[in-house]
Amino acid sequence: MNAALGAQQAESGGTTGLGRVMEPGVIDVSHGPILYLEDVTVQFDGFRALNNLTLSIDHGELRCVIGPNGAGKTTMMDVITGKTGPRNANVSGRVFLGQSIDLMRMTEPKIAQTGIGRKFQKPTVFEQHEVWENLELATKGDKRWFTSLRARLGAQGHRRIEETLALTGLEDEAYRPAGLLSHGQKQRLEIGMLLMQQPQLLLLDEPVAGMTDEETMQLAKLLNSLRGTCSMMVVEHDMEFVAALAGDAGKVTVLAEGSVLAEGTLDAVKREERVIESYLGR
Ligand SMILES: Nc1ncnc2c1ncn2[C@@H]1O[C@H](COP(=O)(O)OP(=O)(O)OP(=O)(O)O)[C@@H](O)[C@H]1O
Ligand SMILES: [Mg+2]
Repeated sequence: MNAALGAQQAESGGTTGLGRVMEPGVIDVSHGPILYLEDVTVQFDGFRALNNLTLSIDHGELRCVIGPNGAGKTTMMDVITGKTGPRNANVSGRVFLGQSIDLMRMTEPKIAQTGIGRKFQKPTVFEQHEVWENLELATKGDKRWFTSLRARLGAQGHRRIEETLALTGLEDEAYRPAGLLSHGQKQRLEIGMLLMQQPQLLLLDEPVAGMTDEETMQLAKLLNSLRGTCSMMVVEHDMEFVAALAGDAGKVTVLAEGSVLAEGTLDAVKREERVIESYLGR
């Protein structure tokens, strides 16, 4: 485990030591994976959107997931976040956050509290509010950052907003209404809002759709800079963006027809015949 992730856990008061009792809200990553899906099947009227999907993401990893339209990538994120679950759909299998948090037994709001942050494709920022206020609002309900019942942002919260502005490259936009930002800036702001909640696992679904090439590379830089702060799963069709995130050694998962078709470095999966046939050769 790297130092930053270790410190994050120490800050939240927990321990990942083997044989110790886990505190609520602490993700036990002592065995490696932060996320583990086993034999997950999701059926819509008999159609298998996910078909015995088995996949795991290591603690601290930035995993890219690619695959054709309809492969089940968004459905997978829906299952992880509880949007689709045994309560509202035909779902089977196991989904675990760390060793001990069984996400299949939890509701969507409860899962949001476990430290999973999700970025949907369209930016959802508060357009009328300034960038700074958007980041402040993102911490509402998170008692760590507010010092009194009247919910005044503490000094620590202020610092955190400044850090997040720097991280997302939005320092110069801090006092502009979010509605005036470019598409790429709005996407970075929304990621900043998620970061204010200190997620341990960030899920991003097609974050660069609609972005210019320059905005795309800015986002790659931002996500690469988050390594060591949280684990990430990024679904994307933009291959240059995926290459910028995966590098030479990062693992990429190819999903097709609800299962893992291939997994390995980007170069390796791009050479696999079945990947060329089902995805790249389109
Ligand atoms: N609520 C639903 N009801 C019925 N079918 C659904 C539902 N949600 C998803 N599907 C179907 O499940 C399959 C997988 O969809 P999903 O959106 O997960 O694919 P995807 O890999 O995210 O594709 P894309 O790259 O186009 O975003 C598709 O055939 C889709 O039509
Ligand atoms: Mg999708």
